[in-house]
Amino acid sequence: MESSLSPYEQIGGAPTVRKLVEAFYPRVQRHPLLKPIFPEDIRPVMEKQYKFLTQFLGGPPLYSREYGHPMLRARHLPFPITPSRANAWLACMHEALNDAGITGEIREHIWARLVMAAHHMVNTPEDEGNGEKEPEN
Ligand code: HEM
Repeated sequence: MESSLSPYEQIGGAPTVRKLVEAFYPRVQRHPLLKPIFPEDIRPVMEKQYKFLTQFLGGPPLYSREYGHPMLRARHLPFPITPSRANAWLACMHEALNDAGITGEIREHIWARLVMAAHHMVNTPEDEGNGEKEPEN
């Protein structure tokens, strides 16, 4: 029965998660709001995200096996995540879902969970975090 398959299985497992991650990070690296907070060497981040998304989608718990409980909000606290950075992250992810060919009801389900997760990661008010303005005296 189709509904007994995890989202991970429904989208095609490891190769699709890999495509998603490979499509996502080049967009992040080109985005003016995201680029400054990510390291230039993006490969280690891609590997962690591949492992995290695998388990987030109901595949094997690759991330937790290696790094323990995700505690993602806490792990993101060193980075100023404003509402507009969360929207930028989601815009990159929206395009990456397209590139990975993830469509239909399962896409809507995954998208809704990513939107919630992204909003949960916001830790900095808009006017403090994007680094666009010099402080005024
Ligand atoms: C809301 C906007 C978001 C921004 C701006 C953002 C930004 C970042 C940054 C800057 C890093 C650290 C890169 C480094 O290691 O130097 C990171 C790590 C990570 N992010 Fe996000 N992130 C966001 C949302 C999310 C969401 C929604 C998820 C999961 C669905 C996620 C999953 C991860 C994972 C798994 C890591 C690696 C954590 C580790 O170090 O073990 N992020 N993110």
